[in-house]
Amino acid sequence: MNRVTITRPDDWHLHLRDGAAMASVLPATAARFARAIVMPNLMPPITTTDLAAAYRSRIHAALPPGISFEPLMTLYLTDTTSAGEISKAKRSSVVHGIKFYPRGATTNSASGVTAIENCREALAAMEQHDLPLLVHGEVNDPDVDVFDRESVFIDRVLAPLLLRYPKLRVVLEHLTTADAVEFIEQSRPGVAATITAHHLLLNRNALFSGGLRPHHYCLPVLKREKHRRALLKAATSGNPKFFLGSDSAPHSLQAKESACGCAGVYTAFAGIELYAEVFAAAGALNRLEGFASFFGADFYRLPRNAERITLIDESWQVPRQLPFGNETLAPLRAGGNIGWRLASA
Ligand code: DOR
Ligand code: ZN
Repeated sequence: MNRVTITRPDDWHLHLRDGAAMASVLPATAARFARAIVMPNLMPPITTTDLAAAYRSRIHAALPPGISFEPLMTLYLTDTTSAGEISKAKRSSVVHGIKFYPRGATTNSASGVTAIENCREALAAMEQHDLPLLVHGEVNDPDVDVFDRESVFIDRVLAPLLLRYPKLRVVLEHLTTADAVEFIEQSRPGVAATITAHHLLLNRNALFSGGLRPHHYCLPVLKREKHRRALLKAATSGNPKFFLGSDSAPHSLQAKESACGCAGVYTAFAGIELYAEVFAAAGALNRLEGFASFFGADFYRLPRNAERITLIDESWQVPRQLPFGNETLAPLRAGGNIGWRLASA
């Protein structure tokens, strides 16, 4: 039996939600990952350090007893985020990044940024205090085709931003295109990107295989096979600019299976196993540890984890549904199999 032991990984992009929903999904992440960058797109959003600290306490309180897990908090950037709030966030040492959602680009982005020019004061403070900007890289312009929104964002928003703030550290979250991979590869130091398991596993055909597949709908939307291949190459390249960010984004079954379904794929239940499957299939298991356990920590200037986990090449069946607060959700590959499992400690 094939097995691989790696340093305990971290998830550098995660949606934990709140309340009973959070209590349902948090144990899965905490069983695998030592830390996670927790996204701030709650309703209402986490826009201040005080809100982030309170959210962090709720996460700690919801952890199963005896499990060590550190939530790394983020603030939700708005048109009115002040330089003072940024320096407070930095001093708090619980906030590790500021998330930029273009308004209307995705789930709970209604309070997001209307034009990045409105955030000059906050961005200058982030550059000064060395607090990274985490970017949802899609324009929300209805005239731009949904499959082009990432590449157009890079040209219109990201490239000028990196020139204007040459010391600002930036993570382009959940890359989906070959264009974005190339942009990151050629970017200056201090610019990195996360890659999800679902964008490594699926291309856009998965949205329509035999019918409409709402559980494969996420933002940025899945792209063509050539883009998936470019992501796979980047993730398995050993280039430290690319690291693990699951973007596990749970929504109830009802919210997904709807005339206007929510964007998000739930992967935290197998948050490292799905990547092991991808890396094994690519013959690159030896590159998993760097991608999952080293490069993100190095980028965020946090120590690498000391514990280790073992993954075993053994197939198991994914439940059709999992509890989600008072509701249920459908995990990725519901009812199907995953080729790798986590060995119990
Ligand atoms: O698919 C997504 N789901 N993309 C996002 O950007 C947000 C996320 C969510 O919060 O559900
Ligand atoms: Zn996300």
